[in-house]
Amino acid sequence: MKLKILIIAILITGFISKDVSYDRFHPGKEWKDDRGEHINAHGGGFLTVDDTYYWFGEHKIGGKEGNKAQVGVGVYSSKDLYNWKNEGIALSVHENPDSPLVKGCVIERPKVIYNEKTGKFVMWFHHELKGKGYESALTGLAVSDQVTGPYTYVKSVNPNPGIWPANYPDSMKTKPVNLEELKAWSPEWKEAVVDGIFLRRDFERGQMARDMTLFVDDDGKAYHFYSSENNQTLHVAELSEDYLSHTGNYTRVLAGQQNEAPAVFKKDGKYYMFSSGLTGWKPNPGKSAVADHPLGPWTALGNPCRGTEEENMTTFWSQSTYVIPVIGKKEAFIYVGDRWTPENPIDGKYIFLPVEFEGSMPILRWYDQWDISRLE
Ligand code: DGJ
Repeated sequence: MKLKILIIAILITGFISKDVSYDRFHPGKEWKDDRGEHINAHGGGFLTVDDTYYWFGEHKIGGKEGNKAQVGVGVYSSKDLYNWKNEGIALSVHENPDSPLVKGCVIERPKVIYNEKTGKFVMWFHHELKGKGYESALTGLAVSDQVTGPYTYVKSVNPNPGIWPANYPDSMKTKPVNLEELKAWSPEWKEAVVDGIFLRRDFERGQMARDMTLFVDDDGKAYHFYSSENNQTLHVAELSEDYLSHTGNYTRVLAGQQNEAPAVFKKDGKYYMFSSGLTGWKPNPGKSAVADHPLGPWTALGNPCRGTEEENMTTFWSQSTYVIPVIGKKEAFIYVGDRWTPENPIDGKYIFLPVEFEGSMPILRWYDQWDISRLE
């Protein structure tokens, strides 16, 4: 009898705790999915299919090893952006120690786009090989016929080997790569970085590709934005028609300005980017930029945050990961950032804020809670 009561009590408690329904965003707070568990999709990317949003992200586990890929890429779905259904693991790590995607490697910032021509869902992600820290700086590719997966791992590459960026002057291409003679952070080093010393070093092998996003333009062309050249300079690389490779058409963007965490959107024919500086898992002042074409040139616009000094210095304690275009609203956007907790990565929270505009500059203000009507 006692056992029966206990089981009923457990069932009721379980039922109650799972029955969470949201009608607004609560940035930075615990956010339960349909199973009653905090959403586990960090460094996220979003894709809209018909009237449904899909949220892909790094599935973290507890403890310091939780930032390595122990499980893979998680996916959630939602019709209203507040309530998310756990759709399981879209891309799983491999048990095979010979696979580059073996459990314990690093998978970060997965982004998925849909290719109209092939009918395939295409995922690119930042990939580091197991046991090599962050030195591989690869970008990985996986594909699926279904949005929620399972995604099949295809390859990992350092993009565009043997190809110069379209905006790299001929006169620079033969400059020597004398890294040993340069002291990091000296004015000469900074100048050499802007001049592309790391670009030239990696010319044959292919370029470094770490923090990343994907952007599909209205004409169906897709672009891969990634932190390259030791995280000092962004690259924007055009993807092939099937989105499965790089075409070789790419540019260096904001050379030497140390941008990570790029998140791109288009409004009134202009391309905007939020990004961060370079401080590991710690937050830093946000950055923004604008361009007339994804390949640039990009012009820095400054810190988009409009909060207290501390909020501006930390991007509201977050690092950008994506900007979601809202379904059914003309040019309304939501900033998505991660509030990392590297000591226990599974606890990381999400910062969703409306993208507002000061003239033609996208800005961010803090709201303890807000709903989509704010974007009217
Ligand atoms: C900052 C990046 O934005 C994250 O994605 C992650 O790579 C951390 N650095 C690792 O320190």
